[in-house]
Amino acid sequence: MITQAIIPLAGLGTRMLPFSKVIPKELLPLGNVSILERILLECEDAGIKKIYLIISKKKEIIKKYFQDDLFLESKVKNQKSLIKKLNLLKKFKKKIKFIYQDTPKGLGDAVYKCRKLINSQHFLLILPDDIIINKNCSKQLIDIYKKKISSVIAVKNVKKNMVSRYGIAGYVKKKSNVLNINYLVEKPSLKLAPSTFAIIGRYILNKTIFKYLASSKKGKLGEIQITDALNKMLNDGEIFSGCVFSGKYLDCGTLNGYVKSLKLIGGR
Ligand code: UTP
Repeated sequence: MITQAIIPLAGLGTRMLPFSKVIPKELLPLGNVSILERILLECEDAGIKKIYLIISKKKEIIKKYFQDDLFLESKVKNQKSLIKKLNLLKKFKKKIKFIYQDTPKGLGDAVYKCRKLINSQHFLLILPDDIIINKNCSKQLIDIYKKKISSVIAVKNVKKNMVSRYGIAGYVKKKSNVLNINYLVEKPSLKLAPSTFAIIGRYILNKTIFKYLASSKKGKLGEIQITDALNKMLNDGEIFSGCVFSGKYLDCGTLNGYVKSLKLIGGR
């Protein structure tokens, strides 16, 4: 059973500057809820019971977003639709635990902060920049996990001229929507890319990853990423399935992508 999810939010969000100086990109609205609430709704619908939100001191406003505000509640107590929205936050609050990453040392380091909290063999990792609408992507990964009892990574076939923007998954076999992954590479040139299947921010991972992250070295940007650890796990025999998910992918990590997503979603 996959019941625990890690959602790292402690990155600097430099691609969303200057807005991200004061507003975490995850709290920006996308339709009638914030980006983060969309992710939490996806978790809830996928049967997740405990959610670890990794934040930093600079992003404590995320914590505040989920705190009760009795004064405001009393002001809108007769407006049912607003009370419903505030109640949704209260509901999420019960499932959330905030974990701190004091310095942004990379996604791998952020995930490592949860090493003592994961108590089943596999857990869900969601990167909130990647929004998938119309279908629950986490649920699709969990369905594959139930059949394979392996690690699962969401992948999307991208155009050749886009491979250098993504992590890319090499594979040995593809059956229906499932790849048998044998190699992962970060932002390769087209020449070096093992396929055109891009890694999108949904993973089901074996908690053995913590052992690999413990010995991971800093990469090019001085950050600990997760790709090296995942490749080492692959080399040691861990099975990784790629889930070619259905649903529409929206990139909410850049201003351009966010504005496009906002236009597409409208008030939904
Ligand atoms: P990114 O590498 O995309 O970075 O992080 P970012 O900070 O979100 O945005 P840019 O690149 O500066 O514009 C991928 C995910 O990992 C989290 C981010 O919050 C994001 O959800 N992250 C990244 C951390 O939690 N801690 C880190 O040290 C780095």
